[in-house]
Amino acid sequence: MANTILIGAQWGDEGKGKIIDVLTARADIVVRSQGGNNAGHTVIHRGAKYILHLIPSGILRSGKICVIGNGVVVDPLALIGEIDGLRKLGVKIGRNLLISNCAHLVLPYHRLLDEQRELHKGRARIGTTKRGIGPAYGDKAARTGLRMSDLMQPIVFSKKLQAKVLENNRILQALGAKPISFREVNESYLAVGEKLRPFIGNTVVYLHRALERGKEILFEGAQGTFLDIDHGTYPYVTSSNTTAGGACTGTGVPPHRMDRVVGVMKAYTTRVGEGALVATHYATMINGIDELAITNLDGLDDIDPIDVCVAYRLNGKRLNVPPSDAAQLANCKPVYKQVRGWNKSTRSARKFSQLPLAAQNYVKYISEITGAKLSMISVGPERGDTIIL
Ligand code: IMP
Repeated sequence: MANTILIGAQWGDEGKGKIIDVLTARADIVVRSQGGNNAGHTVIHRGAKYILHLIPSGILRSGKICVIGNGVVVDPLALIGEIDGLRKLGVKIGRNLLISNCAHLVLPYHRLLDEQRELHKGRARIGTTKRGIGPAYGDKAARTGLRMSDLMQPIVFSKKLQAKVLENNRILQALGAKPISFREVNESYLAVGEKLRPFIGNTVVYLHRALERGKEILFEGAQGTFLDIDHGTYPYVTSSNTTAGGACTGTGVPPHRMDRVVGVMKAYTTRVGEGALVATHYATMINGIDELAITNLDGLDDIDPIDVCVAYRLNGKRLNVPPSDAAQLANCKPVYKQVRGWNKSTRSARKFSQLPLAAQNYVKYISEITGAKLSMISVGPERGDTIIL
């Protein structure tokens, strides 16, 4: 399957977890390159539901190596909670997990600042996951963040943490929040740091050596294209590069080693202001999507006709790409093209030819408009509910 970057072509929640899980079967290594535990990938396997926040989905299959790259922000407490939770479900976690020593840490003051900033914004709030993602990436950009390598050196960590707690307590108090205790944070983080020590290393070198040995890597994107800090509907975005380029910067694997980009899109969208096809067409451009995986096709089984948003109208002008200004996007009126529905269940289809003709035409139309080759269609939540083209 070569080295594959998988990204969400919309606003996150495209059902990537399921597609990642299917692609993982053919990969040797699965890597997360950005985001943190704001992500939540749901995988349903043999009736059991797994929600992964920081650990790549490859962890559910034996023989796969999972890597958390340098571009990820890691909340060590959340990560250890996830490791313990998965182990309780019988998932083996040991030498199959590697964490970059350059990954930045999410600390309790990041979570509190995230919460306070949202609170103070009132109706203008972003609607963050309150996991401290924005403030953690903020510290990274300001060059004042603490990294996994710091956590591996207790004296260094405590010294840096003390200064950060002092600074952030002043900010928290000014915002009307309670200060945090350096001693408590220091103790709990150092204890968790020791548990994480066996997993920490130079993941860039590991990935390059693996490439030299011909291993195939899946770069598992979190969130979606329009949540990208540079290309999304700013400020209603997350704080990392969720688009294909983020896979390179967040892992240290250069662009020329990437073989293909798979974009995941939901067959329909539920968010106001989202234009499925306008957005996906734009996402294809930014990410260089070669192949498209369409999820939730079964969600359209009872809809007839289907209104497909093919453009926007703003102040009397027709737009074929989404405006970069969030307020303008909110004022856009969708331009719909009506497509025939199929009024039949697609759940049991395992081959393209088993889909009703109208459903075949619908997905062909999406592929035509976006200019990407169709490679996968998901018709249900289980691994097997997938048509591979
Ligand atoms: P943050 O990443 O917690 O700062 O949240 C910023 C924005 O990204 C909010 O609109 C979140 O709802 C959204 N977001 C963050 N992670 C995900 C995700 O995994 N799926 C969908 N939306 C997300």
